[in-house]
Amino acid sequence: NEVVEESLRSPICCIMGHVDTGKTKLLDCIRGTNVQEGEAGGITQQIGATYFPAENIRERTKELKPDAKLKVPGLLVIDTPGHESFSNLRSRGSNLCDIAILVVDIMHGLEPQTIESLNLLRKRNTKFIVALNKVDRLYGWKTSKNAPIEKALALQSKDVVIEFNMRLTHVITQFKEQGLNTEIYYKNREMGDTISIVPTSAISGEGIPDLLLYLVMWSQKTMVEKLTFVDKVQCTVLEVKVIAGHGTTIDVVLVNGVLHEGDQIVACGSQGPIITTVRSLLTPHPMKELRVKGTYLHHRVVKAAQCIKITAQGLEHAVAGTSLHVIGPDVDVEEAKKTAMED
Ligand code: GTP
Ligand code: MG
Ligand code: NA
Repeated sequence: NEVVEESLRSPICCIMGHVDTGKTKLLDCIRGTNVQEGEAGGITQQIGATYFPAENIRERTKELKPDAKLKVPGLLVIDTPGHESFSNLRSRGSNLCDIAILVVDIMHGLEPQTIESLNLLRKRNTKFIVALNKVDRLYGWKTSKNAPIEKALALQSKDVVIEFNMRLTHVITQFKEQGLNTEIYYKNREMGDTISIVPTSAISGEGIPDLLLYLVMWSQKTMVEKLTFVDKVQCTVLEVKVIAGHGTTIDVVLVNGVLHEGDQIVACGSQGPIITTVRSLLTPHPMKELRVKGTYLHHRVVKAAQCIKITAQGLEHAVAGTSLHVIGPDVDVEEAKKTAMED
């Protein structure tokens, strides 16, 4: 009973913020996975991607708004590292997203990579919302698993509410110092000019329905033009990886257009353009992380927006962060090579 509109692609949402604010854990909470605990030192060191179908978002948000009309097929979320040494990966993520979540730890407020991330988003004029995460760490917090945030807050003692409001006000002041107006989302009447804050817990799930619904409703309401599917392939290489049994593969985000098995592609290589043929198009299962080894689904055709692992020969020197081009019937190979190397 989804009213998915054929012409709309899934919005691409980048999750950014300072190290250990809970970006990966928030995604784990939505996916029902445990990716974060498998990371070396609990630190994300690669860009990840996960596809959330509309039906899963529907399920997760029905208590908050049972009659919400989701018009997009789903949501593609790009996970980025918060550690200071990975600013290139944050930049890569922020360059290809339509919308973003900036995660702030309610106990820490704004931190150096929060500010770095928000400046990357501002530079590209990317709209974002703030997830004010770890509300469960407020002293005396009463858990109400996966509850909408207003419902969760209504259950708290007076002392918890006082601490919550104090920390929220502090964060709003810190954003103001960065030149940004922010407000808790359900009081925000100027969506867009004033940035919305959604309190969340990645451990017990409070506020997750609000976060998901806000992202989807906001993007399908204000970004119709940007989200209208176009045939022209727009595709970015996220990571280049050797995978046992597949050789060197590339993890890509297909922003627009369609990829087919057997397509001739041109990638930017460190030693010149790489012309090759798509051997297979693999995706993780819905709600599974692309960067985590698992079972893949094979496809003959993949339509944007989606994250894909491409296997092909000769990808050893492919350069992450560059665009991938498809050689169609009326594309000049030399021209395509030149364009591929422009990145
Ligand atoms: P990087 O990707 O390395 O920048 O970190 P991250 O932002 O992805 O944070 P991560 O998901 O690795 O979480 C960091 C730590 O905070 C982990 O120990 C999590 O269990 C914990 N954590 C994350 N979210 C919450 C939350 O909402 N509540 C509590 N109590 N702990 C949280
Ligand atoms: Mg992480
Ligand atoms: Na971490």
